[in-house]
Amino acid sequence: MLKLAVLVSGGGTNLQAVMDAIDNGTITNARIEVVISNNKDAYALTRAAEKGIENVCISPKDFADREAFNQAFLSKLNSCGVDLVVLAGFLVLIPPEMIAAYRYRIINIHPSLIPSFCGKGYYGLKVHEGALERGVKITGATVHFVDEGTDTGPILLQKAVAVEDDDTPEILQRRVMEEAEWKILPEAIGLIADGRVEIENGKVRIRRSGI
Ligand code: GAR
Repeated sequence: MLKLAVLVSGGGTNLQAVMDAIDNGTITNARIEVVISNNKDAYALTRAAEKGIENVCISPKDFADREAFNQAFLSKLNSCGVDLVVLAGFLVLIPPEMIAAYRYRIINIHPSLIPSFCGKGYYGLKVHEGALERGVKITGATVHFVDEGTDTGPILLQKAVAVEDDDTPEILQRRVMEEAEWKILPEAIGLIADGRVEIENGKVRIRRSGI
């Protein structure tokens, strides 16, 4: 059974999608050990509490400096003994020590088709504003492993979503969540939990069932 930590900063609809997938048996070999937020007001914490999942806030505001915050965060994670860290709308930079300690054991959901509209400054609604400004006709979402760069790690799953003429960033964000994010994040966790994901020369290879 793969033990998950889900890291969140906001509403937690992706967390909800993962919890639902575990409940309805789409994900069979994983369970959420802990939900951690940097933001005490994140609704995601309430979603976890309602499910009886341990939920904690570790806020940078409660520490003297970034270093102390990073250390507290890493110790909490280590103490939970998790196998996989899932960034589900977690808007805090992951420090290099944590990336090294959890090499290829941290995944992130990003609301675009990487390498478009990603990297520094592209998060949440800003991603969709960028897509609309450029006038792309297709966008989507990506699940990738986290490395030392911003949105540069090996890509695990992607799903395309159409952009419509009258989209606002909010409408597009919702469509990308519904049609892509809430599907590929649980799917990615299921694939990892089933031992079907390998990384070769910095690229992900998925062993499809029956092969
Ligand atoms: C999601 O759209 C996620 O892809 C995005 O934040 C939102 C969180 O929503 N993440 C990023 O932009 C990371 N660069 P949620 O709290 O409802 O899951």
